[in-house]
Amino acid sequence: MHNAPNLILVGPMGAGKTSIGRRLAERLGLAFADADQAVVERTGATITTIFEHLGEAGFREREKAALRNLLAGSGQVLSTGGGAVLDGENRELMATRGFIVYLRVSVEAQLRRLGRDRTRPLLQRTDREQALRELAAVREPLYLAVADLVLDTEGMSPSAATGALARLLDTRWQRDGHAA
Ligand code: S3P
Repeated sequence: MHNAPNLILVGPMGAGKTSIGRRLAERLGLAFADADQAVVERTGATITTIFEHLGEAGFREREKAALRNLLAGSGQVLSTGGGAVLDGENRELMATRGFIVYLRVSVEAQLRRLGRDRTRPLLQRTDREQALRELAAVREPLYLAVADLVLDTEGMSPSAATGALARLLDTRWQRDGHAA
């Protein structure tokens, strides 16, 4: 049994981090937080606008600050953006402050789930499949390195994946409410 104050979801765009995270938090009676949403609220601009004006580096700085701020708290299910694992300090912080679940999904399923999404700057290209494969090549080893648990969400609805995850967590994760 792994003791940690928060439950953290990592994985690529379209893995279901936000939809599963929200449901899981409700089921476990915990608060839900979304790192992307926190960046948008703290900056007062959409992710697209942040990328446009400050570039990816500007977004990553804000993402890092939002994670630091959120992970100072306890008792949350936190969904992170697909690139949060790129930064070594983020990985270290997440490992210290949470039980990390990697929601794994194939590029094919990502393409289906993300459809014509216009809110993800890294996908605004004609060769979306290639973009997702390039991101996966770099990030998959990082997701695996930080993960305490891997859940394949391929072919699962968000509610089925939430149920499966809740059952797994029962014997794997114990919320440690004291560490702050
Ligand atoms: C990103 C994923 C997005 C968001 C931003 C960058 C990435 O979050 O943080 O567009 O680098 O993969 P989701 O994984 O929630 O879509």
